[in-house]
Amino acid sequence: MVDKPVNPPYFDGLFERLAKHDASTVAAFSRHVHWGYWKDPSQATCSPEDYGTAAENLCRVVCDAAPIRDGMRIVDVGCGFGGTLASLNDRYSGLQLVGVNIDPRQLERAAELVRPKHGNSIEFVHADAARIPLPDKCFDVVLAVECVFHFDRPRFFAETERLLDQGGTLTLSDFVPSERSLEYLDKIDLSANEAIRWSYGEIDLSYSISRYQELAKAHGLVLRESIDITENTLPTYEFLYASTADWTDTWHVELFTRATRLLEKGSRNKMIGYEVLRFVCS
Ligand SMILES: C[S@@+](CC[C@H](N)C(=O)[O-])C[C@H]1O[C@@H](n2cnc3c(N)ncnc32)[C@H](O)[C@@H]1O
Repeated sequence: MVDKPVNPPYFDGLFERLAKHDASTVAAFSRHVHWGYWKDPSQATCSPEDYGTAAENLCRVVCDAAPIRDGMRIVDVGCGFGGTLASLNDRYSGLQLVGVNIDPRQLERAAELVRPKHGNSIEFVHADAARIPLPDKCFDVVLAVECVFHFDRPRFFAETERLLDQGGTLTLSDFVPSERSLEYLDKIDLSANEAIRWSYGEIDLSYSISRYQELAKAHGLVLRESIDITENTLPTYEFLYASTADWTDTWHVELFTRATRLLEKGSRNKMIGYEVLRFVCS
């Protein structure tokens, strides 16, 4: 069910550092691999431990928006190391949880880390988000935490429409460009930028709210809520720059710093927001 090997390059470095039991990487990224959320960004210390807590907070903001209730059937697409599933497994009972990822190494690690409790069940499926080998209408909630920019979004939305039962919801977090910046961002095409490609892989940051609304409409969904949490994520950048301190490959540090600065600039000048979006079956 996987047509193309798309392993985002940042995971190679993470696996290397986790294999060496690097304390900072373990504290920051052993569960979640996404931006952090600080309720009060002025209180961020940007230590690895602070970042790990902020990453858990972001996952909770997405899950609370869904919202999740005991007994639900939930698929987390692009599940990474299973951090979102682990968080749900800790906090709810009677859930049927499925994690989907294109990278089998991540699924292997997730299956080791997340053991079902509270009467929950957990299954992992190796698949591309564009073609998920699971039956029709078998989920109440589809989650996608900070990963849809890697997906073929129209095919992922088609799969979501097929997988969701009546009244089901899709909740995701994504980098969302403002409408007024679209023309400029389409022109500079960040996805073709060398530093972005080497650091973050194939990404598509071109889906504004109006583009999401069109996409949803074409796939039997309606955008019900968008929560702009850009300000709450900004300390992420300070942490990411500091996280390269021990990297030995200066070329990778240079590319990663350049790519991250582009994203930070886009966020700080309000061209690219960080949003949580909730769609319901229409
Ligand atoms: C930024 S990480 C987020 C991981 C996880 N959702 C989290 O929040 O910790 C992006 C994830 O998307 C996965 N991914 C990328 N392309 C994919 C695809 N086409 N189908 C399924 N998963 C994909 C990556 O392997 C990675 O786990």
